[in-house]
Amino acid sequence: MDKLLIRGGKRLSGTIPVSGAKNAALTLIPCALLTDEPLTLRNLPRLADIDGFQHLMTQFGVSHTIQGKRPEDFGRVVTLEATRVTSTVAPYDLVRKMRASILVLGPMLARAGEATVSLPGGCAIGNRPIDLHLKALEAMGAEIELAQGYVKAIAPDGGLPGGEFDFPVVSVGATENAVMAAVLCTGTTKLLNAAREPEIVDLCNLLTAMGAEIEGVGTSDLTIHGVPRLHGATYRVMSDRIEAGSYACAAAITGGDVLLAGAKADEMSATNHALRNIGVSVEEEKGGLRVSADGPLKATNLSTAPYPGLATDMQAQLMALLCKADGTSVLKETIFENRYMHVPELKRMGADIEVDGRTAIVRGVETLNGAEVMATDLRASMSLIIAALAAEGETTVRRIYHLDRGYERLEEKLQLAGADIERVGDD
Ligand code: UD1
Repeated sequence: MDKLLIRGGKRLSGTIPVSGAKNAALTLIPCALLTDEPLTLRNLPRLADIDGFQHLMTQFGVSHTIQGKRPEDFGRVVTLEATRVTSTVAPYDLVRKMRASILVLGPMLARAGEATVSLPGGCAIGNRPIDLHLKALEAMGAEIELAQGYVKAIAPDGGLPGGEFDFPVVSVGATENAVMAAVLCTGTTKLLNAAREPEIVDLCNLLTAMGAEIEGVGTSDLTIHGVPRLHGATYRVMSDRIEAGSYACAAAITGGDVLLAGAKADEMSATNHALRNIGVSVEEEKGGLRVSADGPLKATNLSTAPYPGLATDMQAQLMALLCKADGTSVLKETIFENRYMHVPELKRMGADIEVDGRTAIVRGVETLNGAEVMATDLRASMSLIIAALAAEGETTVRRIYHLDRGYERLEEKLQLAGADIERVGDD
């Protein structure tokens, strides 16, 4: 298994290209099930999770052709075509490797009138139930059965009628599933307290380009008038605001000055606000965002929240940055109950962090030290890389398959900005 070796202390400077957003791509790909015409997605990131999802789509009879196979290219163009759906079952073996597989439930049900998806099971960052996905589909007229670890959703003859659902908790995935099912309903669907993350706006924009009728895009109340059929489209995946925020933290902790090419300020304003409170300069520039830090980092208090609040997917990376700030910061994780797994690893590098339930107290330290650490989940892994870039000496990060799930060619991008990082095989 590969590992990353990072020798800290190099100031990052230059340009880092931001890839297409993983979480947007994972909800745009299943939209191919909603039409028998080709769907072409541009700027798809090259990631293990995206390859896995395409593989899952193949199970349903969806063909895909890939352009942009040159190794030096970032991103690629993929055309998916579901002329005929040959299977409506997402098997355990594929779903267990990738939780986002649950996102085929809504569009498959809408297209084929039924869908059977293995329950995703537990996850490292909390329980992550799917009850809201199921309740929203039920409210739209689906019948749901649970048996032998699978969920089966069935639409009445003639298709789902549509309905109204008020989400008791804001859920990104459940909103996505509900929207993808609603676009082909025979009637109108109202989704209240829906998630409004930029990735959901991206989903609604693609569906609109395919002929869907959605009102309230970008707000938490969506009204979707079902249409009898959708057509194909060509669509560019939005840029990855979490990847951009991660490299912003990396630049800041090294006192660097980096242009994040392709980053969009309006999609990451909570992260940018946090960075500015920490004393980091974030400026919009032609082609992206310039992030620089030339003074001391300052402690700040942060709390994660659904969009437009601070993304839970940025918590670990900002925590790594705060490990080197002057003073004491208090972080609150309100979305997932077990999302501090990076803390013991950061402590191995000399960080001073105390966790009490969903609260973490971070006392800034003068020096972080290189150490042998282990990645536990995607964003946790990135926090270790960020800390390592500023640590004295060498850090070895193991289990980096987590990073390959969500950061396109991470070490190459960091090398572009002058980091001393290399991937080596484990011996
Ligand atoms: C998505 C993102 C993930 C991000 C998260 C929160 C993808 C592929 N993943 O995950 O990176 O961290 O949003 O921004 O886009 N919940 C329920 N019942 C449900 C569904 C969710 O109780 O049926 C709860 C969850 O346990 C959690 C909260 O709702 O506490 C938010 O989860 P949700 O927004 O659904 O996260 P995901 O869509 O899984």
